[in-house]
Amino acid sequence: MGASAAYAALIRGSARQIALYDIATKKVDAEVLDLAHGTQFTGSSQIMGGSDISVVKGSHVVVITAGAKQNPGQTRIELADVNARILGSMMPQLMEVAPDAIYVIVTNPCDVLTVLAQEQSGLPPERIFASGTVLDTSRLRWKLAARAGVSPSSVHASIVGEHGDSEFPLWSRATIGGVPVLEWEREGHPRMTQAELDEIAIGVRDAAYKVIEGKGATNYAIGLSTAHIVEAIFGDKHSIMPVAPVLTDFHGLSGVALSVPCIVSASGATPIKETAFSEREMRLLTESATTLRGVADSLRP
Ligand code: 2OP
Repeated sequence: MGASAAYAALIRGSARQIALYDIATKKVDAEVLDLAHGTQFTGSSQIMGGSDISVVKGSHVVVITAGAKQNPGQTRIELADVNARILGSMMPQLMEVAPDAIYVIVTNPCDVLTVLAQEQSGLPPERIFASGTVLDTSRLRWKLAARAGVSPSSVHASIVGEHGDSEFPLWSRATIGGVPVLEWEREGHPRMTQAELDEIAIGVRDAAYKVIEGKGATNYAIGLSTAHIVEAIFGDKHSIMPVAPVLTDFHGLSGVALSVPCIVSASGATPIKETAFSEREMRLLTESATTLRGVADSLRP
């Protein structure tokens, strides 16, 4: 997954310098070489890396993808124990070499691991957050775009909550070309029903399972999602996207990382507290928070 994020960033020119770190020396050296061999065709990004943590030294943004990946049918939460241990061993080393970086946690379960990494690092919540449901939101926009006959970039709809089985769409604010999603229609693309939207949401929630069943892992879309987040940081873009920092009194939610609309800029991720949620949406968020808090509590020493 990390190599895919690097590849996406290289092609998109997301960063001037890209360093890959992995404890598997031969693997990381080969990934760096394979990426570097194509830099004639990409922008001005420099690619480097290795199995010495010093390759991360002085990084402005650190993307963490290390850890076990889901096996077919396995939930992200089931990776919590093994990946919490891996992340727990990495954070002190990373904080040593890149104390001023902004950290983006992609390793799953990314929401739970973000809470533990934030506690361990002592970083302010805005500077360490999970990639969260940026990827799920891209999946949702792709599905809605296909059904509506438009480009995904003309669909504004978000998945929020857990990057996992309890995620849900914010239908109350979903629009296509500025038109509320249930009112959208054009020739050959009749209005959608709520039942259709609910089916689309289930397809999005289960998308990773389907890809993992077929090819063993997901990598391209999460790599592109990660590059998109990194660009918003480096470009100080103040882009609104559903990433997951540890929340503090966000509609009454604290001490849990959940994807909510955030402004992503050079200072990191800031939840938009003004976001209005329906009673049902707040109930779903609160239920996710309870589940994830329980998982995080079970992992603390
Ligand atoms: C995904 O949703 C596995 O979390 C990863 O593709």
